[in-house]
Amino acid sequence: MRKTLTILTILLLAVSAVYADTAVVYFSATGNTERVANVIADELRADLFELLPAEPYSSSDLNWRDEGSRVNEEHNDPSFRPELASSPDLSAYDTVFLGYPLWWGEAPHIVYTFIENSDLSGKTIIPFATSSSSPLGNSAENLEEAAPWSATWLEGMRFRSRANENTVTSWLDDLNL
Ligand SMILES: Cc1cc2nc3c(=O)[nH]c(=O)nc-3n(C[C@H](O)[C@H](O)[C@H](O)COP(=O)(O)O)c2cc1C
Repeated sequence: MRKTLTILTILLLAVSAVYADTAVVYFSATGNTERVANVIADELRADLFELLPAEPYSSSDLNWRDEGSRVNEEHNDPSFRPELASSPDLSAYDTVFLGYPLWWGEAPHIVYTFIENSDLSGKTIIPFATSSSSPLGNSAENLEEAAPWSATWLEGMRFRSRANENTVTSWLDDLNL
């Protein structure tokens, strides 16, 4: 009996994995957004996609206190779009969680690279971000405006950089997906 139940559970998990209709796509330079993305993917058995820059960010690249750093140069040129190593194919998914860290209160330019070069027409997009202190602000609306496709954007959520798992799972519960 126990064996049958185990087999049934494994089968159920396999079937739900195959039919996952939710993707979690994220960019994370120092691992905080990645932690939240992992919790969402585990909880919803969603597929996980990391947006990797073609040129990885070193810690000196990320030093926003240094006026000459890579992030400052990118920030000072609003039209600059850092290249992605690759762009995920999300055509099979209905719902896409989109995660990013807040840089100067906004999504990093590389997230715009993704948004402007994908087609997520007709999907439901759920933005989430991590930051030390800034709120989500208009970061998600600005991404929506930049998208050359039309989708249903749900209200996003900002987590503290060190958000614990419970904070993320209770947000997911409230979403009632
Ligand atoms: C270039 C840069 C700019 C940042 N700007 C902000 C900001 O405006 N507000 C804030 O609260 N945190 C800011 N942070 C902190 C990050 O949002 C925070 O550490 C986030 O959790 C990092 O996520 P990650 O580890 O997924 O990259 C900034 C960090 C960097 C590297």
